[in-house]
Amino acid sequence: MNDKINLNLLEIPTALDALNGVAMDLDDCASSSLDKITVTDNPDIAFKETDFAFLVGAKPRGPGMERSDLLIGNAAIFSVQGEALNGQASRDVKVLVIGNPANTNALIALSNAPDLSPNSFTAMMRLDHNRAIAQLANKTGTHSDEIKKMTIWGNHSTTQYPDINHVLIGDKRVNELVENNWIRNEFIPRVQVRGAEIIKARGLSSAASAASAAIDHMNNWEFGTAENDWVSMAIPSDGSYGISEGIIYSFPVTCFNGQYKIVQGLEIDDFSREAMHASESELLEEKEAIKHLL
Ligand code: LMR
Repeated sequence: MNDKINLNLLEIPTALDALNGVAMDLDDCASSSLDKITVTDNPDIAFKETDFAFLVGAKPRGPGMERSDLLIGNAAIFSVQGEALNGQASRDVKVLVIGNPANTNALIALSNAPDLSPNSFTAMMRLDHNRAIAQLANKTGTHSDEIKKMTIWGNHSTTQYPDINHVLIGDKRVNELVENNWIRNEFIPRVQVRGAEIIKARGLSSAASAASAAIDHMNNWEFGTAENDWVSMAIPSDGSYGISEGIIYSFPVTCFNGQYKIVQGLEIDDFSREAMHASESELLEEKEAIKHLL
């Protein structure tokens, strides 16, 4: 008898059981903005008439797995989701890919949704953007609200380039407040590896900051960015700043009327250009690894 009880306790919930648990958790918020929850593992049902899609789940990297194995493992997930969005979602759906490798997963979803605008597909860089702002606020003893015009270029990976050259803290440029040595040798590497730092500390990847960044991303995309500021979003490159088309690359963007637009005309120094191209090269390599699936 006892054995039976113990066995039941040890039963591992299926994905749908876990999803039902999430639904209960959401219900218990008694939120005024929650109308109805549909629990399903069928993407054609999940994406029916969807206006905002948050693609959170992805296959994590296992022991001994190469990056290309991870890319191919995820291609299966994101091609199915792209097809379902293509068939079911609202024609102006906004898609945010969060599951890693997010930029290339977004490219796979986009490639499987030929009837939707490529501009519907984005990947999350807002977590990196917010991390960079938080680091600068801590360093300068300012509040994150005072920090404007942060830019993250490239891939959501360790090759991303957090660019402080255009940042204003109050009415001051960053280089009036912090030394270049700190920017190059502490700030940039710390933002680039912050995800891994959190995993090491928590034993799990970021949760609250990632969820908050996802909401920030969609909120700005739908409702617009603040005047005299911009945000970082990974979007299909249109060739701006010399970045190859055909990849999902993070640019500084402003949003208005539910559309994003790349901030043009920023001065790019040699250090920045090199860093931006290093991340572009990584995305082109990722694309090469899954090109037969596009
Ligand atoms: C993060 O940046 O926190 C995550 O993308 C890390 C991860 O691999 O989950």
